[in-house]
Order: sequence, then C-alpha cells, then structure tokens
Amino acid sequence: MKSTMLGAALLAIAGLIPATGAAQDAQTLKIATEPDYPPFEYRDTDGQLAGFDIDIGNEVCKRLARECAWVDQPFDSLIPGLQAHKFDLVNATMTATDARRKIIDFSTPMYIVQVKLMVRKGSGLQPTAQSLKGKRVGVQQGTTMETYARQEWAPQGVEIVSYPSHTNAFVAMASGRLDATFQEAQSAVDGFLNKPEGANFELVASPLDSPILNQPIAMGIRKGNPLKVEVDRALESMLADGTLQGYARKYFAEGNIAFPGAR
Ligand code: ARG
Repeated sequence: MKSTMLGAALLAIAGLIPATGAAQDAQTLKIATEPDYPPFEYRDTDGQLAGFDIDIGNEVCKRLARECAWVDQPFDSLIPGLQAHKFDLVNATMTATDARRKIIDFSTPMYIVQVKLMVRKGSGLQPTAQSLKGKRVGVQQGTTMETYARQEWAPQGVEIVSYPSHTNAFVAMASGRLDATFQEAQSAVDGFLNKPEGANFELVASPLDSPILNQPIAMGIRKGNPLKVEVDRALESMLADGTLQGYARKYFAEGNIAFPGAR
C-alpha cells in the first residue's frame, strides 16, 4: 500500500517536472550569434561572451522579462538555423538586405556601420575592381562583403577567397597569402589592426554606396513570428532612451557607427 502511494507520488512529480521545464523554456529567448567578430560579438579572455550585440541582446531579454540563452553558430548557418527553429533570434551584426528579407524578417534597424578594405600599408590598393585586378581579397563566407565582392569584383579578375570566420582571413593576411580583406571597419580594428600582427596594415576608403553594403544592422527573426512586435518595442525604447548609443561608446571609434534616423 505504502509503495503504491509512493509510486503515485513519484508519477505526479514526474508529471510536474516536464511541465515546469516547458514553462521555463517558453520564457527563454534563444539568440544565435557568431562570436568571432569583435567588438560586435566575441569571447573574452575568460571565454565569456561579450560585445556590442551581446549587450544589446541581454538588455532586450531584460526589457521583455525573459532569460537569454545564447547559441554559437557559424555565420553562414544562422539563417538556416533560424528557419529550422533552432533559436528565436539572430544577433550577429547581420545586415538587413533585401535578399535576406525575402526569407526572414528583421527587427527595427539597430545601427549602421562602415565597410572598408584592409590592405598592407603603402600598397596603394583601393576598393575598386580596377585596383584589385589580379589580387587576392579575403572575405567571410555568407556575408554581405562576400556577396558584393563576388558580384562586383570577381567578374573583373579579382580573386575572392572566402573563410568561415574573419580570424581565418586575418591569419592569411598576416602571413602574406592575401592582398586585402574586406569587412566592417571596426571588426578589422579590433580583430587585427590593434594587435601586433596588424602593425603594417591599414583601412582604406569604403566602396561607393551599395544596396548590399551600408544597410542597417538588425536582429533576424523567423518570418511572421509575432515576437518581432515585442523585440521592436524593446529596441525602439533602447534607441529612444540612449541605452543602445551608450553601449556603442564602449566599443566604437567615432564615425565607425551611426544610428537610424541620425545618418
Ligand atoms: N554585416 C555583415 C553581414 O550581414 C557581416 C556580419 C558578420 N558577423 C559576424 N558575426 N561574423 O553579412
């Protein structure tokens, strides 16, 4: 008799635990990022996730009274993973391009960053097909810089080399296997130029206005997910009260970042 009661009690508890677990999961906001892109998203020397987008994401969770659970993903698998329901949001310096808008939704624009070519000092190279002809230019796979370079430069004889992460491209640059890399300016500064191996390199002017580059950065959201309404409200309040701009001051040189409506 006693053991039957115990059995029933255990069953009840067993029944309760998954229910509670599910309730907690529903409260957790799963955000994917590619943390090899300082100062936007990176792991600090203790292996802790840090950076501008991480600060923004954590504050969005706070304003929505939800827990954040960050998920590491290679950059080119962020959109497929979002579509496969592996996470709720993407926050990885993702440019809200028209091509991407066809397959996912984006939050309200968060910020706009400069894209620049990085070259060896004194090389005289410029971000044009004419100047880069016959040269090797490194880009990160799946990024807007890759799309631009393959569309605008590759057909004119520029060799475009794609890397899974920017760190790979910077290593290739340092060892002389590339003539240039093409990325968002501040990521070249934090990921390479500020380090000893970056001493002989510099950034040169951005390419002309382009519908692929220079678009705002936003969070990626699955198409039609009503979560967008809440996330937009949180981001708009952070832009309105200066929270987002305040985080930017920790990470960016003047001129490397702009905000919606203040272009
Ligand atoms: N803004 C560019 C894009 O959307 C590059 C972003 C790279 N981000 C990263 N975490 N590696 O394609």
